[in-house]
Amino acid sequence: MHLYLLSLTMIVVTTITMRFYQRRAEEFRVGVDDGGRERAKLRAGLNSAIVSEKPNVKWSDVAGLESAKQALQEAVILPVKFPQFFTGKRLPWRAFLLYGPPGTGKSYLAKAVATEADSTFFSVSSSDLLSKWVGESEKLVSNLFQMARESAPSIIFIDEIDSLSGQRGEGNESEASRRIKNEIFVQMQGVGTNNDKVLVLAATNTPYSLDQAIRRRFDKRIYISLPDLKARQHMFKVHLGDTHNNLTESDFESLARQSEGFSGSDISVCVKDVLLEPVRKTRDAMHFLKTREGLWVPCGPEQPAATLITMQDLAAQGLAEKICLPPITRSDFNKILARQRPTVSKSDLELHERFTKEFGEEG
Ligand SMILES: Nc1ncnc2c1ncn2[C@@H]1O[C@H](COP(=O)(O)OP(=O)(O)O)[C@@H](O)[C@H]1O
Ligand SMILES: [Mg+2]
Repeated sequence: MHLYLLSLTMIVVTTITMRFYQRRAEEFRVGVDDGGRERAKLRAGLNSAIVSEKPNVKWSDVAGLESAKQALQEAVILPVKFPQFFTGKRLPWRAFLLYGPPGTGKSYLAKAVATEADSTFFSVSSSDLLSKWVGESEKLVSNLFQMARESAPSIIFIDEIDSLSGQRGEGNESEASRRIKNEIFVQMQGVGTNNDKVLVLAATNTPYSLDQAIRRRFDKRIYISLPDLKARQHMFKVHLGDTHNNLTESDFESLARQSEGFSGSDISVCVKDVLLEPVRKTRDAMHFLKTREGLWVPCGPEQPAATLITMQDLAAQGLAEKICLPPITRSDFNKILARQRPTVSKSDLELHERFTKEFGEEG
């Protein structure tokens, strides 16, 4: 059973990696011949632990978070485009920590960085490092940094960095995570190496659980907070996209007011549900209206020209493809919003705000 699960995991990991492979990663595989056996093995391991991808998320897809976006652009776009700006004492940021409640767009923002930056992007999850590479993790980390330096300018994104942290000195910190962490520290200091063009970006939902040593390594710490009114309005629009709807600007405004406390991910879940409402309405409709173009749209019985018929009946008459979904309405949103609650609790928010006062910076 275990073996079966293990091989299944391997297949999944391999498939994902193959899909996301980029030219850079290919170059590395070609280049391993001269690097000795062990290194080749590690790099092969790295290749399956790291996703070097260009996801298709643009700056403009990320709602709100203006100052976080600006700071990241400062760190990843300008130094690559205009290296002459950053000479002497003026250095770009080298280590960023994005923190905030879950579902606020930290991983999403990192994807935007990967898409928009002209750098090689390495994405690694700390829990993966811990679970899949027991014993070899720290060598993996040093190889990761080396690969990043060789393909500079590059960005290393470490998601869920908190999983590497147990409070230092407490018995619960595993030997493996301690060693990985130390290796990350050493690499970030880049003693004797040219670390100039490697940016380390990390994200966490629980910044207060990071130990002091990790916290200190990330000199730029940005709070990714819950979206404000304007950002929520923008998110409803973005997630709805060009789906047929009859919402007005003021509908979007009132949706934003109604969704106080929602995270970006809450809003995306809400809209996903709303998008299905027209399908449900059509499935359950007892009456349809035939349009001038010969299309069938569900309607209420009070419609003068309504025909008493169901979707299944229409399909049985060979009219399946003539059935049209009704537009999304404000009341579809009301129905879904009435049963959805924000996922981020008040107490979690307070913890983040306290951390921000002490160590952070508003994003
Ligand atoms: N600021 C945002 N702008 C647009 N979409 C967002 C934003 N924040 C969250 N989302 C939506 O919620 C989903 C989950 O966000 P994610 O980045 O995974 O959250 P986390 O902060 O926990 O890493 C994203 O894939 C996106 O669809
Ligand atoms: Mg995340």
